[in-house]
Amino acid sequence: MSHAVALGAAAHRPGGRRAAAFDVAAVRATVPALHQQVNGHPLVYLDNGATSLKPQAMLDALLGYYGGYCANVHRGVHALSVQATLACEDARLAVADHLHVAGPDAEAEIVFVRGTTEAINLVASTYGERVLAPGDEIVISALEHHSNLVPYQMLAARRGVVLRFIPFDAKGVLDLAAYRGLLGPKTRLVAIAEVSNALGTRHPVAEMAAMAHAVGAVVLVDGAQAVPHGRVDVRALGADFYAFSGHKCFGPTGVGVLWGRRALLEAAGPWHGGGDMIRSAALEGSTWADLPARLEAGTPHIAGIIGLGAALRWLQSFDAAEIASHEAHLLAALTAAVEAVPGARVVGTAPDKAAVVSFVVDGTHPADVGTLLDQQGVAVRTGHHCAEPAMRALGLTGTVRASLALYNNDDDVARFAEALRRAARLLR
Ligand code: ALA
Repeated sequence: MSHAVALGAAAHRPGGRRAAAFDVAAVRATVPALHQQVNGHPLVYLDNGATSLKPQAMLDALLGYYGGYCANVHRGVHALSVQATLACEDARLAVADHLHVAGPDAEAEIVFVRGTTEAINLVASTYGERVLAPGDEIVISALEHHSNLVPYQMLAARRGVVLRFIPFDAKGVLDLAAYRGLLGPKTRLVAIAEVSNALGTRHPVAEMAAMAHAVGAVVLVDGAQAVPHGRVDVRALGADFYAFSGHKCFGPTGVGVLWGRRALLEAAGPWHGGGDMIRSAALEGSTWADLPARLEAGTPHIAGIIGLGAALRWLQSFDAAEIASHEAHLLAALTAAVEAVPGARVVGTAPDKAAVVSFVVDGTHPADVGTLLDQQGVAVRTGHHCAEPAMRALGLTGTVRASLALYNNDDDVARFAEALRRAARLLR
């Protein structure tokens, strides 16, 4: 049984191109890895929070580059180099579309990096290092992924900045009153995920960013778990920096994006030294290229950038509202499936969630549940999900996490439900 989302008025992409009607069977047909057997069963892939499967258009883009116009960028006058350079810059435009950034600064503000982790380390090591002073405060939530925690711990050790943590309740909702109390004249940076990778909570980032801006702080948003679920308006969100990874949004591993307001990226200064980031080099010293090249030292992950552009264009070819409606339907069905299993409990029940269901089953270890699901062809993640402090605050060592993408369907949920019932019966 497949869930077809009712089509509303014809949807349009910015730039006047018409979005394809959302049809989950058609979406699935474009993702080859979905159509395989695992442990003797058709694959049910519910580990999209860890990484996503790849559409054929993305794979074709990689092959098109490596098998065709393979050349270095920004360096050659020859035709292949020009073609590769244009393809990378076209990918930057796909990112601009995805983040809703336009205008003269848009391209300067999009920096290709290795992923969310590198983007956040870049901000901590440049903006954090050069602009923050000892005693300045960074406010983050206690629910963050380690990538949005550890770079600031390392910065704190180097620069004497102080970390403050926003608590969350048993549902996985941040305590905004406590957050208000943490903000003050010393707050220079607020860093929060748009969507919690461990629990799926969608944080009220726009409201939190407005509160941060009211005390003069800058806001970094970790968008790794938000971008795969649709387009993001970074300015409406109130982000000053926004980071995401390619591989979680249907692109290649090893590539991602840091978007930042131009003035802040200028203030951050260069990070890695090397090729492409200089305006001019001399033995006595060097000067820096304009953004974004200033922050893109060395030969970039050219194929990755081109693949990321193709992945984003693929995602953009579906209507964002229809994806949201489809995923909301699946989230409700998946939550109900977990709740129907005796002894199973959903962890993270915030009213506003992305399509992620973390859960535990009384008397069982998450890894055992995950292993039994895998034996039935169902892929989930188990453990602390790189959010160990959050798990500790919940009194858990880990959970089982099923995370959805637009290509999942009702059949996946039904197969998961059956496999979970069987796993719970065997383990209890
Ligand atoms: N950050 C990724 C996850 O949540 C790996 O699974």
